[in-house]
Amino acid sequence: MSKVLITGATSGIGEALVHQYLKQGHDVIACGRNQEKLAQLSDDTDTKPLLTLSFDITKTADIEQAVSDIKQLDIIILNAGDCEYIDDVTSFNNSLFQHIINVNLIAIGHLLHFLLPKMTSGSQVVLVSSSVTILPLPRAEAYGASKAGLDYLANSIRIDLSKHNIGVTLVHPGFVETPLTDKNTFDMPFKITSIDAASRIYQGVKAKKSYLHFPKRFTYLLKLIAMLPAPLWQWLIARSIR
Ligand SMILES: NC(=O)c1ccc[n+]([C@@H]2O[C@H](COP(=O)([O-])OP(=O)(O)OC[C@H]3O[C@@H](n4cnc5c(N)ncnc54)[C@H](OP(=O)(O)O)[C@@H]3O)[C@@H](O)[C@H]2O)c1
Repeated sequence: MSKVLITGATSGIGEALVHQYLKQGHDVIACGRNQEKLAQLSDDTDTKPLLTLSFDITKTADIEQAVSDIKQLDIIILNAGDCEYIDDVTSFNNSLFQHIINVNLIAIGHLLHFLLPKMTSGSQVVLVSSSVTILPLPRAEAYGASKAGLDYLANSIRIDLSKHNIGVTLVHPGFVETPLTDKNTFDMPFKITSIDAASRIYQGVKAKKSYLHFPKRFTYLLKLIAMLPAPLWQWLIARSIR
């Protein structure tokens, strides 16, 4: 059985992943800031005891302290993230931009700094990005840029970590029903449940896939549109998403 650390475990996809890995008998370390929710997760667990760690992924001292007792990890799923939109591009919200890049990208660097030394040959790093990087979408300047950076990071560390026999799985989910997307007021085609998303991630990580994207009917559609000449896809996107 593997020792699996999951960030963003207090909600949405991360919470569903905790249940999925516990159900399969793995040792899970669930991480998040919300201590009440972490305690509730532990109480609800009727399989193996769940280890929970409460820390903010943007604070290096907090991460260092929280993970100091962990000796070794087989799988880390860096899933915690945030999404906010730039509503008025002409008065570009630089603090929103900074916050999103900080949580979705800079914090991943902090987590890798403290967690990679605990990983050995055969272990796996899973980075939860987004299908938003397949095709730039309006109002998603901050979120999309943070996840595009994460894609590059994943594809680059995969090359370096292969020398240590550590795998990297990059995940591009489409729309998943979670508190993060509950805030959205626009149409979210082919939205799936967090249980479905967690099950797809679990299967893909088990198969040591380098890249996961789902649901395919949505991600292939985005990939197809992205192949059109730029003026055409930009016109299409501007017309269909407001
Ligand atoms: N839902 C979708 O449609 C969708 C699509 C593509 C990609 N994704 C990606 O999937 C991941 C999970 O999204 P979700 O939809 O499950 O979101 P969610 O329900 O809002 O959950 C976000 C999680 O991230 C944690 N988190 C946020 N900021 C944190 C911080 N500073 N320190 C520690 N933990 C923090 C939250 O925990 P605490 O509040 O306890 O700290 C929470 O557990 C994200 O990276 C998101 O970008 C989601």
